[in-house]
Amino acid sequence: MTAVEDLNAEQAAAELARLAAEIAYHDRLYHRDDAPEISDGDYDALRRRNDAIEARFPDLIRADSPSHRVGAPPSDVFDKVTHGRPMLSLGNAFDGDEIREFISRVRRFLGLDDGDNVGLVADPKIDGLSASLRYEAGQFTLGATRGDGRVGEDITVNLRTLRDLPLRLIGDDWPDRLEVRGEVYMTHEDFEALNVQRLADDEPPFANPRNAAAGSLRLLDSKITASRNLHFFAYAWGDMTPPPSGSHWDMLGRFKQWGFTVNPKTSRCADVDAALAFYDDLAAARTELPYDIDGVVYKVDCLDWQDRLGMVSRAPRWAIAYKFPAEQARTRILAIDIQVGRTGALTPVARLQPVTVGGVVVSNATLHNQDEIKRKDVRVGDTVVVQRAGDVIPQVVEVVLDLRPKGSAEYVFPDKCPVCGSPAEREDGEAVWRCTGGLLCAAQAVERLRHFVSRDAFDIEGLGEKQIEEFWRAELIKNPADIFILEAHRAAILERPGWQETSVNNLFKAIEARRHVSLDRFIHALGIRHVGETTARLLAKTYETWDNFLDSMQAARNRAGDAYDALKLVDGIGPKMAETLVEFFAVAENIAMIAALAEAASPEGFVAPRGATPLAGKTIVFTGALEAMTRAEAKARAENLGAKVAGSVSKATDYLVAGADAGSKAAKARDLGVATLDEAEWLAMIAGEDEG
Ligand code: IVH
Repeated sequence: MTAVEDLNAEQAAAELARLAAEIAYHDRLYHRDDAPEISDGDYDALRRRNDAIEARFPDLIRADSPSHRVGAPPSDVFDKVTHGRPMLSLGNAFDGDEIREFISRVRRFLGLDDGDNVGLVADPKIDGLSASLRYEAGQFTLGATRGDGRVGEDITVNLRTLRDLPLRLIGDDWPDRLEVRGEVYMTHEDFEALNVQRLADDEPPFANPRNAAAGSLRLLDSKITASRNLHFFAYAWGDMTPPPSGSHWDMLGRFKQWGFTVNPKTSRCADVDAALAFYDDLAAARTELPYDIDGVVYKVDCLDWQDRLGMVSRAPRWAIAYKFPAEQARTRILAIDIQVGRTGALTPVARLQPVTVGGVVVSNATLHNQDEIKRKDVRVGDTVVVQRAGDVIPQVVEVVLDLRPKGSAEYVFPDKCPVCGSPAEREDGEAVWRCTGGLLCAAQAVERLRHFVSRDAFDIEGLGEKQIEEFWRAELIKNPADIFILEAHRAAILERPGWQETSVNNLFKAIEARRHVSLDRFIHALGIRHVGETTARLLAKTYETWDNFLDSMQAARNRAGDAYDALKLVDGIGPKMAETLVEFFAVAENIAMIAALAEAASPEGFVAPRGATPLAGKTIVFTGALEAMTRAEAKARAENLGAKVAGSVSKATDYLVAGADAGSKAAKARDLGVATLDEAEWLAMIAGEDEG
């Protein structure tokens, strides 16, 4: 072998290419297959030679260089990354019947015959953090966190340090562009060792492997990430060009060929009985696995069906998570406190003697509302069973009555807000007591501001719950609009502990960047009761511009007239939601708050996700029986292409799609001059418009 000092540039380049491939090969044998072929010493020698050549020829360092595995120098912040396709979440099931119901839904949606079997892939649900890895021409080019599902953070340098993530794909039959999705996790063994080390270094230990993995991945110094020995299981994909075909199972097989690690427990299940047997087997084997899992994920195996099933509010219709039962523990209630939420709801919270439940220390649990406390007769001093399931807030399941101390008293729910002292009231038919203080109540004001800057709302980097609370107490921010004039208080902020020139500049930059947000985020940020993210998006899609939305809501204020009728007719807006919208826009303080806000920050008009599709912004009505797809599928397809689907024909209808035996709707469309398509014309219209 030529000594490194004697290599010329050409030889060095060839040698680096050889070493990258060879080291990647041994990495796979060692980390994925647990079957190393060479000694640690020989492996280290390969690494040292690679490093020495790179030190002499830094210009020749390859994108897939094994030296990236040790981490890159620290950076300041993570850049934002827009995923090629959104990273979805999953619907949950908690018993076998719900899995059977899931299969029935799939069958109904696809209109399957009794003979057609729905094959599934069953995959352990890893309790880690999801990541998306982008490959271009076979090279790993970008790695990102999930973030809000649409935009994540660029953690490429950190992900490069994971040994079971190929820096370049093996073979040559990979798609040109590929986003691989999977879970980053830490083994129990590494977790324990890390915590021992942290305690020795006088650092706080991590609560569980998941937190440790998250903390290790989002480090600005990837050298530390490299030392944490994180792992990655690949289980899904986002953007892929050319797109995949065949089955999910085959795709996982190809992932393995390209160099990814797929969970060896993952199985193909011919039917629902096999799928449920997989769950039982995995639950029994759970404690022996070297990493945490919290259930099973089922995916419809046939990719054509996955495509047709599509997604609904951020979760695929073709997959579901079957969670393991919540873990439980016993502890004592030290006190019952009342928390005041953003809309004034008074929520009782049990303060607990800290107890470990499923690997996490729990010291608070929700008691939901007055009726729940009554039903369970929960009292201060009681010993209770608490449980937690996944990310869900811990709950009090029941009181252990045998252990109730003598002389304990029933809990009396307060009739005043504990924060501002305003009277609390409970509306008919509602379980919740609410503070009537509105924005005069400090708790409501702060909660509303917190909601305003939260991830799915304005999402202002560096202005989280903690800072909002700080600025509110310092009277620098009283309402959302104040955020956008915060710069006037630059000097005052600089005097506060923990703020420096750089952090203050970054904060103002981040605020500036959010002067324009999408209309759905803007509406969501207002914090209207019952208007979550999905409803906000629906409203943005329906009203298209802020002015139109605001005008319509104000016009609907009297609960009569066209604007009110139109609101109630929006598919997906129930009477309860319509009522809280109308209520919200009838309150003078809200209007003042909104007016100030709209001055400072402007919402961008709604852009249909696929502006170019012929259906974007159109209103469609379906009638009669379609042959190629069920009504549910037709509706979902139309909506994915940016259309609104209505139940009856009116002047506002753009197209009526008439299947066989179309009745009165077809006649009405003819009368109104609404364009009518038959099934073939409808299929032609959506052909090739792949849902995004
Ligand atoms: S599939 C389109 N498979 O669970 C389906 N997810 O609760 C995408 N997760 O965000 C997810 N193990 O982070 C899938 N074997 C597995 C998983 C898994 C863990 C996570 C994932 C997802 C979350 C949803």
